[in-house]
Amino acid sequence: MAATPIAVVTGASSGIGAATARTLAAEGFRVVLTARRKDRIEALAAELTEAGHQATAYALDVTDRAAVDEFATAFRSLAVLVNNAGGALGADPVATGDPADWRQMYETNVIGTLNVTQALLPALTASGDGTIVILSSTAALSSYEGGGGYVAAKHGEHVLAETLRLEIVGTPVRVIEVAPGMVRTEEFATTRFRGDTEKAAKVYAGVDAPLTAEDVADTIGWAVTRPSHVNIDLLVVRPRAQASNTKVHRTL
Ligand SMILES: NC(=O)c1ccc[n+]([C@@H]2O[C@H](COP(=O)([O-])OP(=O)(O)OC[C@H]3O[C@@H](n4cnc5c(N)ncnc54)[C@H](OP(=O)(O)O)[C@@H]3O)[C@@H](O)[C@H]2O)c1
Repeated sequence: MAATPIAVVTGASSGIGAATARTLAAEGFRVVLTARRKDRIEALAAELTEAGHQATAYALDVTDRAAVDEFATAFRSLAVLVNNAGGALGADPVATGDPADWRQMYETNVIGTLNVTQALLPALTASGDGTIVILSSTAALSSYEGGGGYVAAKHGEHVLAETLRLEIVGTPVRVIEVAPGMVRTEEFATTRFRGDTEKAAKVYAGVDAPLTAEDVADTIGWAVTRPSHVNIDLLVVRPRAQASNTKVHRTL
């Protein structure tokens, strides 16, 4: 009997990562949940196991290369890696943005994705049919005022995805970039505004049905379950009420 294919999801302790872990478990993958908050991924792994799926949790900071390398030693063969860990810090204009925020966003979104992808690429290749998903953003494709540091970091992730796809063509690994627009998740905007829930709520104010974490997870689940020869290079997904990063319909 063939072994159950394994999917690693980074940033699985909340939002899109947690929803993706649920979706991939339901698709029949053995899911390995990683994030820094061990209690949250352990609780989700237990919930999935209870529901009859295969799930384990492993506490991991994607910016800690030594820890990522240690984590990767557990895998000889890997079917799917979802690079989801990341996020935004602040919404200051370029003129006054904090360089420390820019550095941290680059470190988490770009170097974190680089660390995990480099460490797990041998196992993805060894599987004979590997899939790498990179969760960028519509911020990876165009700028918006106040987005500076996040837009720069997500553009970096986009370039990582594009370059890697060029470099590994001919190997049995595909690279899928999923670029969501506005997604209302429990923590993204609150983290961005450092716990200021009022500012966070304004992001979604008057928007009829922003995307949910489940909408994005559904997109990822669809993309990774296409036949092996089909590579969804870049999938942009926005709510109907959002036509661009700066054109959002609000009923206020
Ligand atoms: N929400 C949106 O509107 C939106 C739109 C487009 C793209 N995205 C992207 O989608 C991804 C998920 O966003 P989300 O909305 O689900 O946000 P979220 O709920 O804030 O989730 C972010 C996840 O990343 C993890 N994380 C952050 N830093 C980490 C680190 N150094 N090491 C390991 N894990 C880390 C967090 O877990 P721990 O804190 O437990 O480590 C958390 O699980 C992000 O890359 C984000 O940029 C979001």
